[in-house]
Amino acid sequence: MWKGRFSKATADLVQQFGESISYDWRLYPHDVAGSIAHARAQVTAGILTQDEFGQIEAGLREIEKDIAAGNFEFSIENEDIHMNIEAELTKRIGATGGKLHTARSRNDQVATDTRLYCRTAIDELTLLLSGLQNALLNRAERYAETVLPGYTHLQRGQPVTVGHHLLAYVEMIARDKDRLVDARKRVNVSPLGSGALAGSTINLDREAIAKELGFDSVTTNSMDAISDRDYIAELLFDFALIGAHLSRLSEDLILWCTSEFGFATLSDAHTTGSSLMPQKKNPDVCEITRGKTGRLYGNLTAILTAIKGLPLTYNRDLQEDKEPLFDSIDTLTLTLKVNTEMITAMEINEDKCQAAASDPLLLATDLADWLVKEGIPFRSAHELVGKAVAASVSSGTPLDQLDLSEVDPAFTADASSVFDLKTALAARSNPGAPSIENVKAQIARWKNA
Ligand code: ARG
Repeated sequence: MWKGRFSKATADLVQQFGESISYDWRLYPHDVAGSIAHARAQVTAGILTQDEFGQIEAGLREIEKDIAAGNFEFSIENEDIHMNIEAELTKRIGATGGKLHTARSRNDQVATDTRLYCRTAIDELTLLLSGLQNALLNRAERYAETVLPGYTHLQRGQPVTVGHHLLAYVEMIARDKDRLVDARKRVNVSPLGSGALAGSTINLDREAIAKELGFDSVTTNSMDAISDRDYIAELLFDFALIGAHLSRLSEDLILWCTSEFGFATLSDAHTTGSSLMPQKKNPDVCEITRGKTGRLYGNLTAILTAIKGLPLTYNRDLQEDKEPLFDSIDTLTLTLKVNTEMITAMEINEDKCQAAASDPLLLATDLADWLVKEGIPFRSAHELVGKAVAASVSSGTPLDQLDLSEVDPAFTADASSVFDLKTALAARSNPGAPSIENVKAQIARWKNA
């Protein structure tokens, strides 16, 4: 493509080192769409005839078909997807192919392709996130009333329900989706027409090109437009945070599947055995999900580091944007699919949950609240209940069977009424709290959404 200025061919090692075709080939449908929109604008600008446009469009469509069918041989001499397609077009339709690159650079071309690729990925991932929400919602509904200890510091705290616990993840994923939808606004802007860095002396109708490609608007500074990779960094952060959420969910499920907790059972189809220990049923999907989060964080770090300290405008460092981006999208796509399937089939062991939630210590706060309602300041109530818990621990008598009046006369006979799990849960009725009624209302709201 640049043979005029050079008298020696590019060294093999440099080709190997610099090629991006081995991974950017997947931009091809966007590269074709971008080229067709660009060529159409060339017709309007009077630099391409309708007939020439017809040849270019048909040639590009043929190439697109061949790539899709696996009948296209990419070459690293042509470095990237843009040059591979353009070289092949010229091979197929002759000199007219050489007109396509007028008023365009690979710099605005790659920025355009990558934005289109991100837009598609955002739309697909948003759907997959909704699918995972649906799976969680389905399980939340099935186990809406199953009581479960809620934990802080992984120590039993207060009663919740399985439904409430699972809905916490539905909330996280809703924010993840919001973030992607918001990022999409910044992605969906057309850089085409920014040229190498300073536009072109041949002015094409940028708005028309943008419209054809489904962009909402055009970029307003050519130097920024071709060197901006913010949208990739932003997406990789969004993906990393989704990873964090999935990793937390994984850890909860790993705990729930232990003999020690025993709250959940995953399907045989979504667990693996041990080659040595016959009894094992391992939650590998959860563990791999937790592990892949490291990759997602790594990809974010890679792009942030690659763009740091780059002078304006395009520098070849920016070619390093695509592998982390593609890897995070591929990683998340599969992670979301497999987790959705696994959660859909997950069963909750209600007896184990009920047994754990029946620990009267889960209602120690409720006992303090009872004292508060009797007019005792919360700090004093906290201390009195603390004493009762200590007495329960030292005597080995469960808190709900202890003669509380021996701890302090403030505990009248009515105090033991707090040890009813159903009432305790029902009392947690403020917005966001886990009363069964609230949980059911939340499930209805999410189903509607
Ligand atoms: N393969 C390149 C990339 O991904 C395309 C842009 C090349 N531009 C250039 N001036 N060398 O960034």
